[in-house]
Amino acid sequence: MLIIFALDLATQGYSNHHCRPIQADATNKRSMSTSNFSKLDFRNALGSFATGVTVVTALGKNGQKVGMTANSFNSVSLDPALVLWSIGRDTNCFDDFIAAEAFAIHILAEDQQELSNRFATTGTDRFAGLEVSEGLAGVPLLTHYSACFQCAIANQYDGGDHVIMLGKVLDFTDQGHRPLIFHRGNYEAL
Ligand SMILES: Cc1cc2nc3c(=O)[nH]c(=O)nc-3n(C[C@H](O)[C@H](O)[C@H](O)COP(=O)(O)O)c2cc1C
Repeated sequence: MLIIFALDLATQGYSNHHCRPIQADATNKRSMSTSNFSKLDFRNALGSFATGVTVVTALGKNGQKVGMTANSFNSVSLDPALVLWSIGRDTNCFDDFIAAEAFAIHILAEDQQELSNRFATTGTDRFAGLEVSEGLAGVPLLTHYSACFQCAIANQYDGGDHVIMLGKVLDFTDQGHRPLIFHRGNYEAL
């Protein structure tokens, strides 16, 4: 059902109607590699944009639970219900998320800084001792969060050293807790 849905979105032209064409090869364009500013300064300046913090979960290629912390989440469209986030190409779980047909985005509550760090730490079992339930398409769902959006993958776009994941929201739960904030590399509360 999820596969059919993703195909359905593609045939409806979500990827190219009123959009600039996606160029997979960024070397033909003015790219970051030709910019004359430092990557660190750029990163620091981007950090001035305060965001919430999410944990995105999915089923991996071998049916294992995968999850990672991401603050690149954003709302896109109300009708149809679309959201996005982006994943770094150099992450270990990249192949699993790229192959997944569905994912869940958990907006973390202000008391979940530890969970954010856990899902950003490499080389550990991120789900160890965590209570999870099974969501749509078997995607692991956390039990505590501010809001959770269960999505089918609608499209993936080249985003330089990241890939932008567009999700069609199939279901959501709003627990209404105050959110965790990330600003200039630090966690904050509203
Ligand atoms: C607050 C915060 C936000 C993050 N946001 C993103 C993001 O949007 N996209 C991303 O690819 N990595 C992001 N990361 C880094 C990943 O969580 C981290 O690189 C990833 O979990 C590494 O896992 P790996 O073992 O799969 O490489 C963020 C980390 C933190 C602490």
